[in-house]
Amino acid sequence: MQSADVTPKVWEHILAARAGQACLCCGDWAPGERAAMALYGSMMAAPGTPQVVAQIGQSLDGRVATVTGDAADVSGPDGLAHLHRMRALVDAVIVGVKTALHDNPRLTVRLVSGQNPARVVIDPSGRLPNDARLFAEDGTRRIVIQEVDKPRPAGVEVIQLPRSDWISPPAIVSALRKVGLHHLMVEGGAITIARFIEADLLARLHVAVAPLLIGAGPQGLTTRPVARLAQARRPETQVYGLGTDVLFDCVMGARVAAEVWPHARQPAVRLG
Ligand SMILES: NC(=O)c1ccc[n+]([C@@H]2O[C@H](COP(=O)([O-])OP(=O)(O)OC[C@H]3O[C@@H](n4cnc5c(N)ncnc54)[C@H](OP(=O)(O)O)[C@@H]3O)[C@@H](O)[C@H]2O)c1
Repeated sequence: MQSADVTPKVWEHILAARAGQACLCCGDWAPGERAAMALYGSMMAAPGTPQVVAQIGQSLDGRVATVTGDAADVSGPDGLAHLHRMRALVDAVIVGVKTALHDNPRLTVRLVSGQNPARVVIDPSGRLPNDARLFAEDGTRRIVIQEVDKPRPAGVEVIQLPRSDWISPPAIVSALRKVGLHHLMVEGGAITIARFIEADLLARLHVAVAPLLIGAGPQGLTTRPVARLAQARRPETQVYGLGTDVLFDCVMGARVAAEVWPHARQPAVRLG
């Protein structure tokens, strides 16, 4: 496991690299700083390059909230800062309607410097009230993906897509590309992330594990079950110490940006 040391100088350098104004390969950096650049560099993509990543924060016993829906502090402070850094490196953050209803999240980057991503909620039946915080006007794009014809607040972009069991995740990615959003992070909850995993759309999956036991409550990822362990997905994984949390950075294989960001080519560790 490598410790990722995200000093303010390293973070500013990563933001500059994202803007095409710096390179993450060269320079005189300490090993922990290099690890931080490898971590964030590997999930970046060049402007206009389609890429989808996902992040979930969970407890040691694989829960993402309590039975009463308290999810605010599942991740420790360093896990939360990591989540905000991930937000700052993508064009848009996607959540499912249950997360929007339970947590009423703002989806901003208030814990780190950087730009807020566009906020996207998948709400096929129009269950999210129009006064939800993620619809609040703050200069950031707000988008709802829905099947129904429900009016939304002024300035909120509505993308109407059909559903069968689900709205097709490739159709969601394609619709967001058409409105200029290429680099996407699916932030939860587990149901929403699972749809993107099953559609083989993820380049990276970040699972941040915090050292606490919750006992019961919504479970982390629940993808289609396999009968035998030999059939289980075993993504190549790098493990990073973030301070309060441990991060599993899993290569899921869809459109990895290694051609664009050479530091992403470092050999990955296979676990299990
Ligand atoms: N620890 C963390 O990192 C973290 C992050 C996020 C959320 N959470 C917690 O997770 C819980 C909520 O997560 P969840 O997994 O139950 O639900 P969720 O993923 O937030 O929302 C799922 C719902 O979103 C809609 N949806 C998502 N993808 C869709 C698709 N492709 N097509 C059609 N509809 C789609 C569906 O809405 P309908 O039901 O209307 O059909 C679906 O039931 C909350 O307790 C929240 O606090 C934890």
